[in-house]
Amino acid sequence: MRKKEEGTILSQKEIVPGIFDLRLEAPDAAAEASAGQFVNLYLDDPARLLPRPISICGADPTEGALRMVYRVSGPGTGTAELSRMEPGRTLSLMGPLGNGFPLGQAGEGRVFLIGGGIGIPPLLQAAGELLDLRGRSDHTDVILGYRDRNDFLAREFEPFGHVAIATEDGSLGTRGTVLDAIRAENLHADVIFACGPKPMLAAVARYAAEEAIPCWISMEERMACGIGACLACVCRTKETDGHSNVRNRRVCKDGPVFRADEIVF
Ligand SMILES: Cc1cc2nc3c(=O)[nH]c(=O)nc-3n(C[C@H](O)[C@H](O)[C@H](O)COP(=O)(O)OP(=O)(O)OC[C@H]3O[C@@H](n4cnc5c(N)ncnc54)[C@H](O)[C@@H]3O)c2cc1C
Ligand code: FES
Repeated sequence: MRKKEEGTILSQKEIVPGIFDLRLEAPDAAAEASAGQFVNLYLDDPARLLPRPISICGADPTEGALRMVYRVSGPGTGTAELSRMEPGRTLSLMGPLGNGFPLGQAGEGRVFLIGGGIGIPPLLQAAGELLDLRGRSDHTDVILGYRDRNDFLAREFEPFGHVAIATEDGSLGTRGTVLDAIRAENLHADVIFACGPKPMLAAVARYAAEEAIPCWISMEERMACGIGACLACVCRTKETDGHSNVRNRRVCKDGPVFRADEIVF
């Protein structure tokens, strides 16, 4: 089984209200991490024994550093505790975990990277890896959905492709959802990779099915063990799973990335 590693916080700042950008020195995890994978972060409070899964937003194997961008989910929560941690202190983590995005499936085709809200961070690592893989950014459209004009990370995607923004309140980009932005800008793709809230993923999966576009989505479910042992994180699938003999898959171990047409929303 994968071992825990002691990371050291290099920096942490609030980039928009409630959203924090954490850089962690964790050479073992940084050496192996790829887009769509996550790490389990262990907090100090003995009441919070369960780890917090957070996606890899950036991995720099040369510097041995990981970047994570997360939302504080409320006062008194584990993510609130995490947000108070200062640079220089250590933090236990396990990872990288999960399967990651199969970016090789993009081939030479046009790609949509679709992110919604706190599902956006893992797509930044995906965008960088896709550019490394293909050596071109002109076949990549990054479509990002936000609540309002707090468009965290949006500018960082610009070197990796065309960036289209949708906001729920219409304060930036297209008013509405990521699919409204796709239609408004008349964008087309051969392959889709997406991460975001379930209703967005369900809509993207429907769109991909209608347009017959292969699509992979990163699912988020509440987790407990985070390593495939407890079945707390299962999502419903069309096929029977060999591990549990029922129609579900473990997001932490079998995912978090699945073919969109495998999932029952
Ligand atoms: C694969 C994966 C990747 C994720 N990546 C990110 C990310 O990059 N940035 C980000 O802000 N959030 C991410 N999340 C969600 C994040 O894990 C939760 O917001 C966080 O665990 C909430 O912990 P808490 O202590 O603040 O909340 P609490 O409600 O106090 O948590 C109680 C327990 O429930 C679990 N839990 C609560 N909400 C979630 C949730 N949405 N998903 C999984 N477990 C949950 C916690 O881990 C904890 O064990 C990801 C979740 C998954 C499954
Ligand atoms: S969280 Fe325990 S099996 Fe996924």
